[in-house]
Amino acid sequence: MPHRCLAALALAAAATPPPRQRQDIGKLPALGYNTWNDVRCDGVDATTILSLAQGLVQSNFSQKGYTFLNVDDCWQAPLLNDKGELVPDSLKFPDGIRPVVDKVHALGLRFGLYADRGFYTCAFRAGSRHHERTHAKQFHDWQIDYLKYDSCWSPNLRRKGALEDYRRMRDALAEYAPNVHYSLCGWSSWYAPAVSGEEGYHSWRISADCDEFANIYEAARTMEQLSDYAGPAKGYNDPDMLVGTSTGAVTLTPTQSRTQFDLWCVLAAPLLLGTNPSRMNAWDLETYGDSDVIEIDQDPLGKQGTPVSSTCPPHTPKDNWWCSPWSMPRDVFEVWTGLLRALAAVLLTSALLLRGVGRPCAAAVAFILAIGSVGYVQVLHTYRPRVAACQQVWAKPLVDGDVALLFVNWAPDDAAVACDAACLDRAGLTRRPLYVREVRARANRAPLVDGASVLVQRVGGGGGSVLFRVGL
Ligand code: GLA
Repeated sequence: MPHRCLAALALAAAATPPPRQRQDIGKLPALGYNTWNDVRCDGVDATTILSLAQGLVQSNFSQKGYTFLNVDDCWQAPLLNDKGELVPDSLKFPDGIRPVVDKVHALGLRFGLYADRGFYTCAFRAGSRHHERTHAKQFHDWQIDYLKYDSCWSPNLRRKGALEDYRRMRDALAEYAPNVHYSLCGWSSWYAPAVSGEEGYHSWRISADCDEFANIYEAARTMEQLSDYAGPAKGYNDPDMLVGTSTGAVTLTPTQSRTQFDLWCVLAAPLLLGTNPSRMNAWDLETYGDSDVIEIDQDPLGKQGTPVSSTCPPHTPKDNWWCSPWSMPRDVFEVWTGLLRALAAVLLTSALLLRGVGRPCAAAVAFILAIGSVGYVQVLHTYRPRVAACQQVWAKPLVDGDVALLFVNWAPDDAAVACDAACLDRAGLTRRPLYVREVRARANRAPLVDGASVLVQRVGGGGGSVLFRVGL
C-alpha cells in the first residue's frame, strides 16, 4: 500500500466518528461530499469513490467535519433483479457496495447512497417504488449511513402521494436500517411544513438543482419563509449541494461560489461539497475550509437565518417538478433546447423542399411544427430562473448570543449595503456597544456604539457577500 494511503489510514483512525445514536442523527446539518456536481454519472465507480475518500481525509476536510461521502445517481444497474433488489452496476462496482463501504468506514468517514421513490432514478437507473422494504434491508446489509431519496419517475406527482412514497421508505428504514440519515429530494418548499419535526426525516430539498447562480438565488429566496422548520429536533431545509470553482461538472465564479457557501452556513443548510477535495484550487480550499464559517453552520442552536433587510422584489416559491422549465437541470435544458432547435431547422428545410415539389399541405404542416418548436424553446427560456438586482442582509442567531450577519449583493454592480438600527433590531441586536468582526478577513471593525450607528459595507457585484459576526 502506498505511504500516502497508510498515512491517510493512520489519520483516519484518530478521526473515526463515534458510533451514532439514532436520536443524534440529523441534529445538525450534514457535512460531507456528494458526487453529483463533481463527476455526474460517468465518474461514479469504486475506484473513484475510494480516491475521493482518501482525498477527504488527506485534505483535512474530514477533520473539519465533512464526514459524509455520498454516492449520487448511477451506481445502480438499470433494472432490479428477480428478487426486486437493487443491483450495483457490475462494471463500476465489481465487488458490490459493501467492500467499498467498509473501506470508506475504515477511513473514519460515513457512506451515503442515492435511490429514488419512482420506477427509475433521474438518470434511468432502477428505482425503489414498491420495493422499499427489500431495499432498506440491502441498505442495512451494506451498512450505509445516509440515503438521498429522489423524486423522478413516480406516478405520485401530487403532495399526498409523494408524501406516501416518502413515508413508505421512512418506515422501511425505521424497521431495517434505523441509523440511516434520511434525506428527501422532492425539490419543493411544501415538504418543510409536511415533514419537519416528524420522526425519521432529517433533511428535505426545497428547490430545484443548484447548477447555475440563478438557482442559488431562487433557493435562497425560497428559504426566507422556511426558518421555522429547521432545528435540531426538526431536521433541516436543504437548498441543494455546493458548487465550487475547481474542476467539476458544474462550477460558479469564485465570488458566487463563496457567497453560496457563506449563505448556506447562515441558513443552517447541509454542506455537501461538489468538487474533488484532492483537486480543489486554493480559492475553494479557503472557501470550504474556513472553520469560523463552518462553525456558524454547525452552531448547536441549529437556527436558520432570515433576511433582516432586503431590497429584493416579493418572491413566491414554485412547486418544482423534474423538467418543468424553471427547474429543469441546466444540462438537460441545454440538450433539450438544442434538440428542439435542430428539429425546427429540419422541419423548416422540409417545408421549403415540400413546397418546391408542389406539396403545399405537407409544407404547411412542417412549417407549423417548426414554429411550434421555436415557440416552445422561447417558453423554456422565458421561465428560466433569474437573479433580481437587489441586496439583502441575512441574520442567524448563535449559541453565545452573537449573530452572524451576511451582506449579499445579488445585483451585477457593486453596491453599498447597510444594516441600520431597525435592521439590527430585527436581528435581535438591541443593546450597545456591539462588536463587529469580519469573519473571513479575521478583522475587527469599529464597534457600533449608539442607536444611530449603522453597519455599512461595500459589496462586490455579481453575487458578492461579506460575513460578519456581531455581538456584545
Ligand atoms: C435530480 C436531483 C439531483 C441529482 C440528480 C441525479 O436532479 O435533484 O440532485 O441527484 O437527480 O440524477
